[in-house]
Amino acid sequence: MIRSTASSGSSQQQGIAAIVGVGPKLGRSIAGKFAHEGYTVAILARDLGRLSRLAEEIASEEKAQVFAIRIDCSDSKSVRDAFETVLSLGFVEVLVYNANYQPPNPTSFQSLPLETFQNSLAVSTVGAFHCAQQVIPSMVERGKGTILFTGCSASLNGIAGYSQLCCGKFALRGLAQCLAREFQPQGVHIAHVIIDGVVGLPRRKSLIVAERSGGGEDGTLDPDALAQTYWQLHVQDKNAWTQEMDLRNSSSTFRFF
Ligand SMILES: NC(=O)c1ccc[n+]([C@@H]2O[C@H](COP(=O)([O-])OP(=O)(O)OC[C@H]3O[C@@H](n4cnc5c(N)ncnc54)[C@H](OP(=O)(O)O)[C@@H]3O)[C@@H](O)[C@H]2O)c1
Repeated sequence: MIRSTASSGSSQQQGIAAIVGVGPKLGRSIAGKFAHEGYTVAILARDLGRLSRLAEEIASEEKAQVFAIRIDCSDSKSVRDAFETVLSLGFVEVLVYNANYQPPNPTSFQSLPLETFQNSLAVSTVGAFHCAQQVIPSMVERGKGTILFTGCSASLNGIAGYSQLCCGKFALRGLAQCLAREFQPQGVHIAHVIIDGVVGLPRRKSLIVAERSGGGEDGTLDPDALAQTYWQLHVQDKNAWTQEMDLRNSSSTFRFF
């Protein structure tokens, strides 16, 4: 575990926000948003070097405590070890499960190795199962907590050449619905966010490029804007909880209708 700290001056009455699957796009933006709102944040992924650079960046921008913790979501022992560290930091009030196996190209079903298919399910679904099992007991005990799962258009539609991605994401959606039905009555908010489009760079980073290319109207989704919605889901009044939500850039066409 690598700790990056910048004094926030805020009292730490809140729990921890654990963001699993953090790279430079959505995961980084969600972690930054929860840090901005005063949470101590644990960010988790496999590449500890990159993760610790992101943790330092967020800690210094948001004047927050950010912990970088290695996890491989496809390995149940790695998930258990990582959460032992996360839980030693305090109560996990927010879990965002963002990790996925990203296939580089469409692969014909006949040439898709079983190992690739299994790995995608292991990361998208089994990893989510393990992470949720680590945090739900104390959320139930306290009668509060939020778990947000990240989906995509492949969560709803089969796509030729992407059976590994679609099956992993379909199953994740099923898990989210089952957990919501079981744990919402016990005070745990569980939602599934379908991102219908390509996540781009945050506008703050792509500003110069965007100005050159005509205002950034490239149809991608700004991860900072997405992160804002994750925050809004977390702070929703429990009398009106969202279980599933879809998000797209206003200039893009709907992919899954
Ligand atoms: N990018 C898009 O266009 C897009 C579109 C729709 C939906 N989404 C969804 O949004 C989520 C985030 O995607 P993003 O592209 O914005 O990526 P990101 O949040 O920048 O990074 C996600 C990180 O997950 C980590 N990861 C992958 N496999 C892992 C594993 N086995 N164990 C632990 N961590 C793992 C990777 O880091 P390490 O390599 O260091 O482990 C990766 O950088 C995904 O669930 C994706 O399906 C993305």
